[in-house]
Amino acid sequence: MAAVEPQKVLSVHHWNDSLFSFTTTRNDSLRFVSGEFVMIGLEVDGRPLLRAYSIASASYEEHLEFFSIKVPNGPLTSRLQHLKVGDEILVGKKPTGSLLLTDLKPGKHLYFLSTGTGLAPFMSLIRDPETYVNYDKVILIHGVRTVSELAYADLITKELPEHEYLGDDIREKLIYYPTVTREEFRNQGRLTDLIESGKLFEDIGLPPLNPETDRAMLCGSPAMLEDTTNLLNARGFQISPRIGTAGDYVIERAFVEK
Ligand code: A2P
Repeated sequence: MAAVEPQKVLSVHHWNDSLFSFTTTRNDSLRFVSGEFVMIGLEVDGRPLLRAYSIASASYEEHLEFFSIKVPNGPLTSRLQHLKVGDEILVGKKPTGSLLLTDLKPGKHLYFLSTGTGLAPFMSLIRDPETYVNYDKVILIHGVRTVSELAYADLITKELPEHEYLGDDIREKLIYYPTVTREEFRNQGRLTDLIESGKLFEDIGLPPLNPETDRAMLCGSPAMLEDTTNLLNARGFQISPRIGTAGDYVIERAFVEK
């Protein structure tokens, strides 16, 4: 049985020159948990060229959504960026991943720490009612170089608070903290520096990170993951050692060669 199957592209949105997202049809039998990724790709020279992509859509939605960078000479993204409505794309049948709510110990505040397209799994998680059940606050931090890379900002700040089912939770619990490193913006600097300096906590009105009360999920570049992991470990946080075993935080690697 093939590990992938073709789906149809339903919509494509280009955020800027380097980022785009798209939605596809979803097989009724495809099940996933918010935060998971799936292999997707195209057939190139008669063979599937596949990469892991976090699913950005909520698990209850009829379509699938993905958020991608455009790497000029990237084997897959140099092709994917030309996707058009109606095109076929290969989608894996077995989503998996480690950004699972069930792999976090109970806590009060849940931090989603992302840079670049590492935002994708959190777009699924913030649209999942389960996310809000066991936390007082859910803090979504998105670090990018330029303002135009703040994809989904309008959806998060304008549409989700008005959402028919999610609106109450979003308004009461979700704190969105975008930060930009290479342009003027209301929040500036790397998320690691904002945590170290305490500026983040001043801005959002919560106490500094504490493993007694806080849980985290990380998704970004290898360098970001390494620095953020070191920062959490230095504060006494323990990573979930493996899928199925709870910890104070979990990480996903979104940036492989694309
Ligand atoms: P900076 O502009 O200072 O490099 P990238 O596009 O390279 O993945 O970066 C996305 C965002 O993540 C940028 O704002 C970048 O900041 C930031 N970033 C890069 N490396 C790290 C790191 N090690 N820790 C935290 N943030 C990082």
